[in-house]
Amino acid sequence: MMEIEQASSSSGGYHRRGNNNNDDTTSDHDNDDEGVISLGGSTSMRARATYLVWQDLTVVLPNFGHGHTKRLLRGISGYAEPGRIMAIMGPSGSGKSTLLDSLADRLSKNVVMTGDILLNGEKRRLSYGAVAYVTQEDVLMGTLTVRETITYSAYLRLPTSFTNEEVRDIVEGTIMEMGLEDCGDTLVGNWHLRGLSGGEKKRLSIALEILVRPRLMFLDEPTSGLDSASAFFVVQALKSVARDGRTVVSSIHQPSSEVFALFDDLFLLSGGETVYFGEAKDAITFFAETGFPCPTKRNPSDHFLRCINSDFDVVTATLKGSQRHYEEPKGSDAYKNFSTSEIKATLAEKYTWSKYAKKAQSKMKQISAFHGPQTSTISTSQAGWWKQLTTLTQRSFINMSRDIGYYWLRVIIYSIVSICVGTIFYDVGTGNTAILARGACGGFITGFMVFMSIGSFPSFIEDMKIFTRERLNGYYGVAVFILSNLLSSLPFMLLISLVTGTITWNMVKYRHGFSRYAYYCLNLFASIAVVESCMMVVACLVPNFLMGIVTGAGIIGIMMMTSGFFRQIPDLPKLFWRYPISYINYGSWSLQGAYKNDMIGLVFDGLAPGDPKMTGEEVITKMYRLPLNHSKWLDLLAIIAILVGYRILFFVVLKFKERASPFFQSMYAKRTVYRLNKRPSFKRFPSSKRQYNLRPLSSQEGLSSPIP
Ligand SMILES: Nc1ncnc2c1ncn2[C@@H]1O[C@H](COP(=O)(O)OP(=O)(O)OP(=O)(O)O)[C@@H](O)[C@H]1O
Ligand SMILES: [Mg+2]
Repeated sequence: MMEIEQASSSSGGYHRRGNNNNDDTTSDHDNDDEGVISLGGSTSMRARATYLVWQDLTVVLPNFGHGHTKRLLRGISGYAEPGRIMAIMGPSGSGKSTLLDSLADRLSKNVVMTGDILLNGEKRRLSYGAVAYVTQEDVLMGTLTVRETITYSAYLRLPTSFTNEEVRDIVEGTIMEMGLEDCGDTLVGNWHLRGLSGGEKKRLSIALEILVRPRLMFLDEPTSGLDSASAFFVVQALKSVARDGRTVVSSIHQPSSEVFALFDDLFLLSGGETVYFGEAKDAITFFAETGFPCPTKRNPSDHFLRCINSDFDVVTATLKGSQRHYEEPKGSDAYKNFSTSEIKATLAEKYTWSKYAKKAQSKMKQISAFHGPQTSTISTSQAGWWKQLTTLTQRSFINMSRDIGYYWLRVIIYSIVSICVGTIFYDVGTGNTAILARGACGGFITGFMVFMSIGSFPSFIEDMKIFTRERLNGYYGVAVFILSNLLSSLPFMLLISLVTGTITWNMVKYRHGFSRYAYYCLNLFASIAVVESCMMVVACLVPNFLMGIVTGAGIIGIMMMTSGFFRQIPDLPKLFWRYPISYINYGSWSLQGAYKNDMIGLVFDGLAPGDPKMTGEEVITKMYRLPLNHSKWLDLLAIIAILVGYRILFFVVLKFKERASPFFQSMYAKRTVYRLNKRPSFKRFPSSKRQYNLRPLSSQEGLSSPIP
């Protein structure tokens, strides 16, 4: 869901424009209390206003076997507005990522969510481009430099009408905004290349999303791994995106006071419960009113987290246990007489009845009734189909050529194995024993040599991870990805076939003739392409390295078994193995084509001297029991048809996963909720009804508490 405005000038107008609107948007919020939702600014700014509301959001981890059903989020509600940046804060494990994942419709399959999410007043799933989400993990292409990564991302999403100059300006502006100038030409890095630092990777991931100024942006701990100055600049850049009329929601871990001051709203979570939701600056007052004021010398966010992080109970107990003379940390009066779980429960309880909760509720009501721009008109990427295809093909080609493990390692291994095959079957000739030798050599090359294509599986898994991230953020469609992946890999597969073909052809001394040599290489090429496509389907269905390799090896093993070499085709059990497996198996077509290409026209010696000679045709029909009723080119065509079939299957599987999984998930959710509700132990609301006596806290470090 990204809308990109045409730059007003070619020299960085894209970013300047964002900053110029600052005042328009900030002034809006001041009108909120009058119950009017109005966005100032330009018409285009109003048109891209994105209001997000979540109501009674509950996420549970069902456990029907044994143990408790764990509640990850407990009926939380809130909203996010354009022009403002919201911080989701809470201790580790409090549900920050779960909240963002629920909003972005990216929860894992084992959990169940209930509640409503409204985007501009409409119930909607925020997947596939509806939201730009920078997740906690960085999924980047390791072989590209920072500048290349951002540039490709820009070409994939910015409108095709942008000139190269304009795109370059935007890219450079984003690099500067994220402070990546020093590592602009550094490779991101992968398993064999040491590249960017963790913080730089994080900033790059953010840069990729703020590049297009998305209407709705989620970030999961964007400042983790950054020093406080870089964290400040990152959040400031996010604030500038928000001020441009965009809606920004970010989870954050212990921000410095400067960073905290940049946030407009605060959502404080603890154990999946709301402790506070409202304007960030009001949180300090709320804590003070509740009896836990922030000491003047302390960073407010530290204070909030110190109050709600139950782990501190364990820390205190451990310290007390391990030190004979345990000294209370200075200024810890507020925590001395209460356990943090008590403080947390008090805060959550007080918040429910506070004016902040009331204000948030009335605001939520107004926003829910507000019907802004139709979300259906929100487009994902603004680049044309052709532009996306060329950009993606180019990027994928560069990745393949720089990643040693993708193809180059295989070129070397194929060459070595080819030399081995060449020496074993060297100058095979036309003696009687050559009949079997030629058959075995063909079987090995179309079977085992092709089998080695499985080696690219780890790279496929990396490709699939990047595809998943980019697809979810709405970079491009499934068809573009599949086509670009095929196109970029073709030159490498051709190279492998040519290297293997040339070495074995010349060493084994197959029959001369360019067309035979060309067929031999093409046959190999088509077979490798089929196996690669099959492996892509496996990588998509089984995205685990080891499991995927085992599954892929099993499938290709079956193809080898039914290709006609290990068991002749007429002898295969008719049911299943002959029909349909031997027909939809590239191996049987490939082997038939290879035998025809090699043997038709050859004459072999008889078994004993003086025995009648055998023609190649006789060998094929009588010994290998293969029909000669169609030409070898038809065999090649069948392999290409299988290749197309696999690519279509790949498309169908990806589309099915996108379309069907939400349906199955909602069915699963309904069933689970129904079953859970029947359990007496499953209470809808958490029981934090205990009241705690509060005591004056005016003795705190440098503080005069407003509570008597
Ligand atoms: N799919 C899941 N299956 C099982 N448990 C889960 C799942 N998702 C989240 N959890 C649990 O829910 C709790 C909240 O997780 P979440 O990742 O939202 O925490 P967080 O606030 O983002 O923490 P952090 O700051 O460490 O990233 C954790 O205890 C986690 O183990
Ligand atoms: Mg998290």
